[in-house]
Amino acid sequence: MGSKKSKGDRLRSVKGMHDILPPDSRRLQEVQRVSHALLQRYGYAEARTPILEYTPLFARSIGDQTDIVEKEMYTFADRDDTSLTMRPEGTASVVRAYVQHALHKVEPVTRWYYFGPMFRHERAQRGRYRQFYQLGVEALGAAKASIDAEMIGMLVVLLDDLGLQNLRVHLNTLGCPECRPGYRQALLDFLGPREAELCEDCERRFANNPLRVLDCKVEGCRAVGDAAPRSIDHTCQACREHWDQLNGDLGLLEVEVRLDNRLVRGLDYYTRTTFELISDAGDLGSQNTVAGGGRYDGLVQELGGPPTPAVGFAMGLERLLLALGPDLPALAPVADVAMVTRGERARAAAVPLAARLRKSGLAVDIDHRGGSMKSQMKRANKLGAPAVVILGDDEVDRGVAALRDMADSTQEEVAVDELEGKIRGLAGR
Ligand code: HAM
Repeated sequence: MGSKKSKGDRLRSVKGMHDILPPDSRRLQEVQRVSHALLQRYGYAEARTPILEYTPLFARSIGDQTDIVEKEMYTFADRDDTSLTMRPEGTASVVRAYVQHALHKVEPVTRWYYFGPMFRHERAQRGRYRQFYQLGVEALGAAKASIDAEMIGMLVVLLDDLGLQNLRVHLNTLGCPECRPGYRQALLDFLGPREAELCEDCERRFANNPLRVLDCKVEGCRAVGDAAPRSIDHTCQACREHWDQLNGDLGLLEVEVRLDNRLVRGLDYYTRTTFELISDAGDLGSQNTVAGGGRYDGLVQELGGPPTPAVGFAMGLERLLLALGPDLPALAPVADVAMVTRGERARAAAVPLAARLRKSGLAVDIDHRGGSMKSQMKRANKLGAPAVVILGDDEVDRGVAALRDMADSTQEEVAVDELEGKIRGLAGR
């Protein structure tokens, strides 16, 4: 029973996992291009780590009581029964690579970024997927708040370069192993008498990790969270100084932030600074956190390396595209020039000509379906190519081609040798 349905279902993409096709794939490339360029100016280099990692890496880093590790990981046994997990995020993998390759011996500060798919078995909805792309940025080896500020400032510049409007930067501090226990106790004391007002999940979780309650989206828990003690009021002297320096530097960079006491993040590795960038732009809807991150000074040591302070963030690229809307970033036309040919000799002349033009850096379209000149012209029009080269046998014999300026519908005869320069003129390249 139901075999027809399940057969059909298997020919669709997996729930929560989407194809990224043109024009979205081009918009994604544009986001990557702008990001690569900007990140280089801040001294970051790309790191590519595998999608699969041994499962304990994530339990040790993200925390075994987090939603991600408790219920969202794609975990399976390898052929030899070793437990593998498809990475739900990139920080754990980056730190694993940093420790494995002993980067602390190579350079005092390591600055890496990564692009790639992450996997979480979440309830799928707009802006929340089971496979999604992140741009992640991590700086390992620098303890000062100035790098937290530089990173937040860089993220704001990046989103501004990409044209994202209506951005809010939320900021919090979660303290350190020195002062966190005191804050935790203050929260427990506050939440204890209010346990009945919490949702089932929070009731279960609050004894282990009362900070999670602040993160909960359920109405009752939100109300409790709003009135809860603030971590900023329970920090030790060193965390307070870090916080003050961070805010001072953000002021120098003219980045406006708002203190958000409920910003505890869904991963357990954070210390001190946490931040999120939230946007009301475009089609984002309720999943409007475009990027999130913070400091994780204990994680390198937790994963077997020497004590190494670190800070980073990750941005959800599907969410970014939703926020940017369909028009942004602007798309380059697919072709600089389209070739339209009539007759076999003209076609044979167009093949090496197109190859030469492409080698010179121009994008050239040939309509390989053949067909009439009219249908080839129609395609050239549809492509939005600024120039069209029209070749017939007669033109081939005379070593010329007709070059059509599509913007003002004029046409001139051009010697084949001069085509490249003229096309560049029309295409503005
Ligand atoms: P995260 O907050 O779990 O942090 O994810 C970062 C961003 O990835 C989110 O703000 C969101 O834009 C996007 N994202 C997360 N889950 C989904 C989903 N199911 N569907 C679509 N987009 C999603 C981290 O992953 C940390 N590793 C960030 C970090 C780096 N902290 C320090 N370094």
